[in-house]
Amino acid sequence: MATDLTVSTMKATRRSQQWFGAEGRSGMLYRSWVRNQGHGPEVFDGRPVIGIASTWSELAPCNAHLDRVAEAVRRGVWQAGGYPLVFPVMATGETLMRPTAMLYRNLVALVGEELMRANPLDGVVLLAGCDKTTPGLLMAAASVDLPAIMVTGGPMLNGKYQGGDVGSGTHVWKFEAEVKAGRMTEAECAVAEGCMARSNGHCMTMGTASTMACLAEALGMQLPGSATWPAVDSRRYETAQSAGRRIVELVEDDIRPSAILTRGAFENAIRANAAIGGSTNAVIHLLAIAGRVGVDLSLDDFDHLVRQVPTLVDLMPSGRFLMEDFCYAGGLPVVLRRLAEAGLLNEELTVTGETMGRNVAGATCWNDEVIRTWAAPLQPAGSGTAVLRGNLCPDGAVLKQSAASEHLLVHEGRAVVFDSPEEYHAVCDDEDLDVAADDVIVVRGAGPKGYPGMPEVANVPIPTRLLKQGVTDMVRISDGRMSGTGFGTVVLHVSPEAAVGGPLALVRTGDRIRLDVPARTLDVLVSHEELGRRTAGWAAQARPEDRSGYRWLYREHVLQADAGADFDFLVGSRGDAVPRDSH
Ligand code: FES
Ligand code: MG
Repeated sequence: MATDLTVSTMKATRRSQQWFGAEGRSGMLYRSWVRNQGHGPEVFDGRPVIGIASTWSELAPCNAHLDRVAEAVRRGVWQAGGYPLVFPVMATGETLMRPTAMLYRNLVALVGEELMRANPLDGVVLLAGCDKTTPGLLMAAASVDLPAIMVTGGPMLNGKYQGGDVGSGTHVWKFEAEVKAGRMTEAECAVAEGCMARSNGHCMTMGTASTMACLAEALGMQLPGSATWPAVDSRRYETAQSAGRRIVELVEDDIRPSAILTRGAFENAIRANAAIGGSTNAVIHLLAIAGRVGVDLSLDDFDHLVRQVPTLVDLMPSGRFLMEDFCYAGGLPVVLRRLAEAGLLNEELTVTGETMGRNVAGATCWNDEVIRTWAAPLQPAGSGTAVLRGNLCPDGAVLKQSAASEHLLVHEGRAVVFDSPEEYHAVCDDEDLDVAADDVIVVRGAGPKGYPGMPEVANVPIPTRLLKQGVTDMVRISDGRMSGTGFGTVVLHVSPEAAVGGPLALVRTGDRIRLDVPARTLDVLVSHEELGRRTAGWAAQARPEDRSGYRWLYREHVLQADAGADFDFLVGSRGDAVPRDSH
């Protein structure tokens, strides 16, 4: 009897009942229009109303199957006694959007947040896939703090060309270099182009999409094992259906993202990122998500927390295999179990209602080549993301050691400076470009405000003349980002960026730059006085093209990379309350 009372009290106070349980004209308006989809009045009986936030779009090819995933989630919600309603959140496709999908991550978060709050929802299932959609929806859910569970769309099947594996993204850079170096014909490249994206799903390298799917799981926001099922695997849909059932229980148990996205959960995600050889973009996204829930996370955490963590997962771009192989080897739960066995996994609550350690205690590895053991890792502990400081990056910069060349980790060279990626691209094929293999290529103007949108341009190609001589890597420095599928000795996210007058703006061709990754330093070997003189002569570039519209909003309000490049006015959680009625 007491239980019945509790249940009926909960139903009466359910958020969706503020709409569907309303009396009089308002209630009629709320219910009547929804019934045009053929639902009877029983769906308004106080059962949890579950929004399925879908970033489906054919313009975001990696998310083009999310409508099918949504159907599986919908089944699960009905099974558990909830009422599912699918709604679109804007999708950002990494490959097509100009000037860069990152310009719109905060907009995904903003649209997602407002839709979740403005509608009669008790809980949300977040459907994401391509790079920015996953952090965007997590940021949104964190700021609304309705019970939420993520279902990522899963990776594409392994690319295959001439009997070998082809990694999305990673092989685009490789093939480009092969063609430029004369080792691959244009005709061969055209065939390879059709062999890379073989099925629905997101990039199957350990790029940003796979990384963020894994980190959503490591944070405790998606069901164990979810990150790696290929997009076309039946178990992807079975998992989605389970998530649909589980969100109904999360609503009934009132488990919200704020209970899951704790400091300890972020530490788990940061360590998991090191163990999987994940994308540097995760640094920016995790900082932004943490900012939404008020967790105090800093750039330096990404260095300190991973010093004891080796790279275990042998996936491109750092290693050999692809997401299908990672899935069949046991997926992320194996990695998390290995972290737990090393004493490096925090016991945090997850969407299963259990702690992370309990979720993964039974995880079995089926292939030690793909997921290495702690004793025989792909890369030794401390070889993950390094956070650099120095007079060139007072607020920090990052470098992915596992994607860099050992011989360049300590390097001094002459700076060759370009004010924009375009300026570099215009000359990088010139046979007489004045650049040597031990020079340091600086590409600035690619930061959050400078581009704007902080595009993935930092791993600019090696100058063609040097490529033909067999040079495969050089130190490159930028205030931009690098695709998670990229590789090379590339210093990224230099903060503050050049466009706001960071020291990167002051470097000139001919200056000496010193990179020392073991010491975590990056400096331009120019005196303090000289840098002061250059600062006095520096002026921000006029940007008449950015005086209105979204680009104006973005440039006015975006934070620097070390703060997650969120909008200043979106930091924090604003909850699910709506102050006023609509009618
Ligand atoms: Fe969408 Fe790589 S382009 S995940
Ligand atoms: Mg990307």
